Amino acid sequence: MPYDAPPAPLTDSFGRAVTYLRVSVTDRCDLRCTYCMAEKMAFLPRKDLVSLEDLARLTDAFVDLGVRKVRVTGGEPLVRRNVLDLFRHLARRLDAGQVDEVTLTTNGTQLPRYAYDLAALGVRRVNVSLDSLSTDRYQKITRIGALDKVLAGLDAAQKAGLKVKLNALASRGPFEREVDDLIRFAHGRDMDLTLIEEMPMGKTGLDRAASFLPISELRRDLATRWTLLNSDHRTGGPAEYVDVAETGGRIGFITAMTCGFCSACNRVRLSCTGKLYTCMADEGSVDLREGPSGWTGDLHARIRAAVQNKPKGHRFLENGSCSATQRHMSALGG
Ligand code: 5AD
Ligand code: SF4
Repeated sequence: MPYDAPPAPLTDSFGRAVTYLRVSVTDRCDLRCTYCMAEKMAFLPRKDLVSLEDLARLTDAFVDLGVRKVRVTGGEPLVRRNVLDLFRHLARRLDAGQVDEVTLTTNGTQLPRYAYDLAALGVRRVNVSLDSLSTDRYQKITRIGALDKVLAGLDAAQKAGLKVKLNALASRGPFEREVDDLIRFAHGRDMDLTLIEEMPMGKTGLDRAASFLPISELRRDLATRWTLLNSDHRTGGPAEYVDVAETGGRIGFITAMTCGFCSACNRVRLSCTGKLYTCMADEGSVDLREGPSGWTGDLHARIRAAVQNKPKGHRFLENGSCSATQRHMSALGG
């Protein structure tokens, strides 16, 4: 009866409560976005992946300790075989009122297949990555992707009643000329759009400094063409929102590199190998499969100890030039 007497909530040594868990179910993806992956990626051997049952069991331990929101990420989470098993498990936690929200970050290509089931399992919101509405540019960015598939995914998601937020990675060059189209597209379809600053996660074979576009600069540029009104809207994440007067829609800005949102950080990450990362920008992790009593035993104590060591903040350099981690974004999710 683990839920009868709730243990003390998870907090770190800086007094931040951890209420949000991101669970990466795979490092694989059906795309190869240039800012995220190298062209030839070495993925984890399948034997290193934790089973979905074990990920569910680990997630439960966090829920025992007060996590109220779970986001499933990847790689591309929907390429993990039987991924709905995990959502089915999480749906029981939702139904029992043990978590408030289960969400998903996806590239959208598999949504035609999964959107309906996800909605039926209690998912209400999905974040879909989309950096360009040009067929050519989308193909260039994703190396092997087709824009049509994502657009079909967006249709399927909205038809299934899912609230969609688009994530676009800001970069110098063509993106700056396309961002207005993205705003019109997103807001025309009642989707928020979040613009994300590139983070130096893993080597991609490209020069990140050359493409790095500070969100502050992009925001100033947008303000010359759009009326951006500060908004109180918050989703519990690092994004800061503005309302766009002309469209009635919302834009979120994620300034991971140039702004400090660490002091309000409420999240930790569980990898598809069963490791707990208390900071995305830190190499340090704790293997939750290790320990004398294996999986079960003192899992709560190990999670607590790891969270106690959550770093105060990240150490990315501000010009976007350093390689902050060896790990790619796909290994742990955004
Ligand atoms: N910096 C910032 N965002 C990234 N993403 C992938 N790699 C990076 C990076 N290096 C984003 C994708 C997607 C989300 C899951 O993470 O654009 O929207
Ligand atoms: Fe896949 Fe997302 Fe990485 Fe693109 S950014 S390669 S969609 S994990």
